[in-house]
Amino acid sequence: MFLPLVLIFSSSPFSLGQAPLPLAVNTWPFKSASAAAWSVLRSGGSVLDAVEKGCSRCEQEQCDGSVGFGGSPDESGETTLDAMIMNGNTMEVGAVADLRRIKNAIGVARAVMERTEHTMLVGESASVFAENMGFVAEDLTTNTSLNIFSQWLKGNCQPNYRKNVSPDSSKSCGPYRPEAGLTQKRARPVNIHSHDTIGLIALDGNGHVAAGTSTNGLNHKVPGRVGDSPIIGAGAYADSSAGAAAATGDGDIMMRFLPSYLAVELMRAGADPSAACKSAISRIKRHYSDFFGAIICANITGHYGAACNKAPSLAEFHYMVSNPQSDTPTLKSVDCF
Ligand SMILES: *[C@@H]1O[C@H](CO)[C@@H](O)[C@H](O)[C@H]1NC(C)=O
Ligand SMILES: *[C@@H]1O[C@H](CO)[C@@H](O)[C@H](O)[C@H]1NC(C)=O
Repeated sequence: MFLPLVLIFSSSPFSLGQAPLPLAVNTWPFKSASAAAWSVLRSGGSVLDAVEKGCSRCEQEQCDGSVGFGGSPDESGETTLDAMIMNGNTMEVGAVADLRRIKNAIGVARAVMERTEHTMLVGESASVFAENMGFVAEDLTTNTSLNIFSQWLKGNCQPNYRKNVSPDSSKSCGPYRPEAGLTQKRARPVNIHSHDTIGLIALDGNGHVAAGTSTNGLNHKVPGRVGDSPIIGAGAYADSSAGAAAATGDGDIMMRFLPSYLAVELMRAGADPSAACKSAISRIKRHYSDFFGAIICANITGHYGAACNKAPSLAEFHYMVSNPQSDTPTLKSVDCF
């Protein structure tokens, strides 16, 4: 009999490389998102439902103004949404980008996964798809987003993400035209307040892993800009034979390195989740030493970790963990390096 041996040689029920499961981990101190995911998992619900419920809670509550409607207006004042969900058992993914007029972006992402053979839909056509699938079209603009937009216009459209154009984008609003030469280097106007995407990873007790993201992107982005959140392997990745990861931060930079995919592959090769997270950050750091970003990682035995790049606006990264040990969302933090 093996069971008595286990009991003799271990004092903890979570030994033999097994941590408490199920588990939900999400970026930033978004407590109610963690609670929503946890209430699904603790009642035996699926990891996909946990990811969807957690992310959609943030969309409803407009977590930090950076998820859901009424935040991060683009250069034309419109809020658009990006989201993704990934099933680590089947490797199916649904994603939407530049979604307009629909609040529940993660729900639409899930509909892309479950009601089409595609992986990603974008822009106006994604909104039409969503309406056809029963999602309600409504204006995503609020007084808050209108106010952010009008202040920005009053301030000569600063900050913005244009370069090598005329008139000089560091001083003037557009419309812009390309300038001869590619000489202008601009400091990226990115900080903790301009994007706090929710990324959520969930594991159940049967070895099923899922991950998802939802965001309204970057304040004052160029219309059409898509960040890392809906990009598979960048914003999130899940594989039930290795683990899951989700990233947050300066998506324009981070998506160039597929940090979530990298972290999951490192965990597959045996790396500890914290070490895998750190390696994914280090890879980006080599090229962009002061980029703004963080990543959360969990392996299939329920161990988790996080890492972040030390930057002027980020010294410590906060994230939420729910598992049977606490039975309530617990705030965790990690020092950036
Ligand atoms: C938005 O602003 C308008 C005009 O100032 C006001 O009438 C309206 O009640 C505001 N809406 C909300 C939700 O605060
Ligand atoms: C997950 O990470 C923990 C902590 O490093 C480790 O003990 C465990 O073996 C890992 N699980 C797998 C399946 O690699």
